[in-house]
Amino acid sequence: MLSQDLIEKIEQQTRDLVWWKPEQIARGEHLVNNPTKGERSWSVPRSTGKFLHDFVEKEKPKVILELGTSIGYSTVWIASAASEYGGHVYSIEKELHKCAIANENIREAELERYVTITHGSITEVLQDVPALVGDQKIDFIFMDADRGHYHKYFEQLEPFLSESAVIIADNAVNMQVRMRLFLEMLAKKNWAYQIIEMDNGLLFAQKNTL
Ligand SMILES: C[S@@+](CC[C@H](N)C(=O)[O-])C[C@H]1O[C@@H](n2cnc3c(N)ncnc32)[C@H](O)[C@@H]1O
Repeated sequence: MLSQDLIEKIEQQTRDLVWWKPEQIARGEHLVNNPTKGERSWSVPRSTGKFLHDFVEKEKPKVILELGTSIGYSTVWIASAASEYGGHVYSIEKELHKCAIANENIREAELERYVTITHGSITEVLQDVPALVGDQKIDFIFMDADRGHYHKYFEQLEPFLSESAVIIADNAVNMQVRMRLFLEMLAKKNWAYQIIEMDNGLLFAQKNTL
């Protein structure tokens, strides 16, 4: 059961945390209050977190892969549902400082048994999927990273998906252009998909069955 305090704490971190590159500091960008500048956590809205939680609670996917952990907000929502039936979330994040905060948040939620965060680039980590998930098939993927590469990640992951695997991808409305090659690939591979018009748009894709 997720505590309201922890959810609010991570939402506060989402608003507060900004990481600056040395060249941005040199340009003085960190001194201007501009929410589009600097590296942020870009956590999903609470309603999307709840949607992911409810989806997992209902469908009970055993092996879950998240692309883009950030500070673990969506991870905590998903893992809190998965913990109810023994599912496991494998999540990948390239920024070490975000992994550290995510791990702390997951510990605070008492979900460490149900989450494995891997630090690294998604392309590299997915070069050896069995090293990540063992010989299990992946039942559910939440994609929330670099949208322009989803088609490549899909190709890397396809051999390791269970028959009824589901993919949900965030930003399917506001960043749909970047996902064009991924959407074309899903159609080519005979996957059905629909876009749920909530928050930034959630792509919901499943092989054949929709
Ligand atoms: C939108 S944020 C994820 C937010 C998180 N899912 C949540 O809602 O709490 C995207 C994250 O993906 C990470 N990321 C982007 N491209 C990546 C890549 N190629 N490999 C690993 N991580 C990546 C970024 O560092 C960033 O933290």
